Amino acid sequence: MAVLPIITAPDPRLKQVAKPLARVDEAVAKLMDDMLETMYLAPGIGLAAPQVGVLKRVIVLDLAKEGETAQPLQLANPELTWVSDEDLAYEEGCLSLPDHYAEVVRPGAIKLSYLDRENELRSLEAEGLLATCIQHEIDHLDGILFVDHISALKRNMILRKLLKAKKSGKQQDADPAHVL
Ligand code: NI
Repeated sequence: MAVLPIITAPDPRLKQVAKPLARVDEAVAKLMDDMLETMYLAPGIGLAAPQVGVLKRVIVLDLAKEGETAQPLQLANPELTWVSDEDLAYEEGCLSLPDHYAEVVRPGAIKLSYLDRENELRSLEAEGLLATCIQHEIDHLDGILFVDHISALKRNMILRKLLKAKKSGKQQDADPAHVL
């Protein structure tokens, strides 16, 4: 496995739409494994392929807390098939927008279909933080960042600060549970 460099905003590659996969082959399975390793090291609880510069519809997640058994999820072509009317607000951060957080409101429960690491078509129901995290990662596949869900004023402020931080290279310690 290999740790991949994570792209941070502002960067045009984070605004592109990723392509669906014809199938999950060995190369895609390796990408999934590399993405998980990259995410664990960061650390964060979710990562989408465009964040490592690969425009393919692949996401990985693991919501297990420190000391708990790992619960890795590796999904290709994830597609929402149902969302709840009830919303959930969560303080979101992102490995591509280090040190910035904002409350984002999304459906609190979802159903989705996806291909697993063995190329099997599967479905999944999720609620709470897992539903939030999956929607955040699917957004990445469509070139959408969590700041696109908040006011333009706040978004521009965060992007300006990120640009400055990129030049200085400074980073704070974050709570991984909010780094999606
Ligand atoms: Ni993210």
